[in-house]
Amino acid sequence: MDKPTKLEIRNMTKLYKNGDGVRNINLSVSLGELVTLLGPSGCGKTTILRTVGGFLQCDSGKILIDGQDISQLPPEKRPTAMVFQSYNLWPHMTVYENMAFGLKLRRISKQEISERITRMLDLVKMAGFEKKYPNQMSGGQQQRIAIARSLLLEPQVLLLDEPFSALDAKIRSQMREELRKIQTDLAITVVFVTHDQEEAMALSDRIVVMNKGSVEQIGTPGEIYENPATRYIAGFIGEMNFIEQRDGTTVAVRPENVRLELGDATGGDIGGIVRTIMMLGHFYEIAVGTDKGIVKAFASAEEAAQFKHGDLVNCFFDGTYRYQPNSDQTENV
Ligand SMILES: Nc1ncnc2c1ncn2[C@@H]1O[C@H](COP(=O)(O)OP(=O)(O)OP(=O)(O)O)[C@@H](O)[C@H]1O
Ligand SMILES: [Mg+2]
Repeated sequence: MDKPTKLEIRNMTKLYKNGDGVRNINLSVSLGELVTLLGPSGCGKTTILRTVGGFLQCDSGKILIDGQDISQLPPEKRPTAMVFQSYNLWPHMTVYENMAFGLKLRRISKQEISERITRMLDLVKMAGFEKKYPNQMSGGQQQRIAIARSLLLEPQVLLLDEPFSALDAKIRSQMREELRKIQTDLAITVVFVTHDQEEAMALSDRIVVMNKGSVEQIGTPGEIYENPATRYIAGFIGEMNFIEQRDGTTVAVRPENVRLELGDATGGDIGGIVRTIMMLGHFYEIAVGTDKGIVKAFASAEEAAQFKHGDLVNCFFDGTYRYQPNSDQTENV
């Protein structure tokens, strides 16, 4: 029933000379699964990807593909392909030459190379671009070619390091959809890296949330959103209000779980004064100033119309999390 494990990172540690790096990483990725490494700059995402691709040696631990330890193999002997953050097309080669290069090395016939390139360009919606040079294309187009080129090599595991970070928001979300479509159609196993939580939520089967060189939580986007294991994750994924308690614990509540009622400060979870009401597309964000800080609530247009700047309101919390001080424990309340 369960898909077989394609990639396994087992207790892997890679530290640089200055002590930075990643520690005790454990991760299993199933065949055809898209798993995202998510975390802020410097948390170790690229380091993990490079050890899987063979561009860095692990200090300890193992990397297995289909159960075979590949940690000692050089990049070209590994069944992986990596797309780096900056465009990695060869500038002096046309799109066609860029794409054909790896296939020629594999001694595939001209006829077959040509057919495969045509098919792949169709797949990434770049048909007709064969004769262009990289500097004659937009960033998004170059990135699509870079992904197409890596797909042509039919890697068993595709490693993508922030491939869309240089693109503007609209092209980015188109590229996400295209990648997801191709990846599911071809059932490719992908490890994707981003520091953008929205991108991770949109794209992934599972997300690995990283913090300072360690894995902090692994789960589906829904699991992580519904049950952020630590306060760090609660603050990193989606919007969250944090309300410090007298006993030192912190109560966290998402703005969509805050309901407001007009009235003085009794009866609700916390009282306050409406500071701002902002329209954010199809919903409103109402910021309430309380003696524990600002509490944000999301509201429909209809709900938001009941409130104005300066109103006294009660905030009611539906669905909160509680985080212990200096610990990773949480309880759902
Ligand atoms: N070649 C290197 N030598 C020494 N330290 C390094 C080297 N490469 C990365 N580091 C350090 O290791 C840590 C992890 O770096 P890494 O590049 O894996 O982070 P990242 O999560 O990919 O960050 P970003 O989102 O900025 O790309 C950082 O503290 C970084 O400064
Ligand atoms: Mg990086």
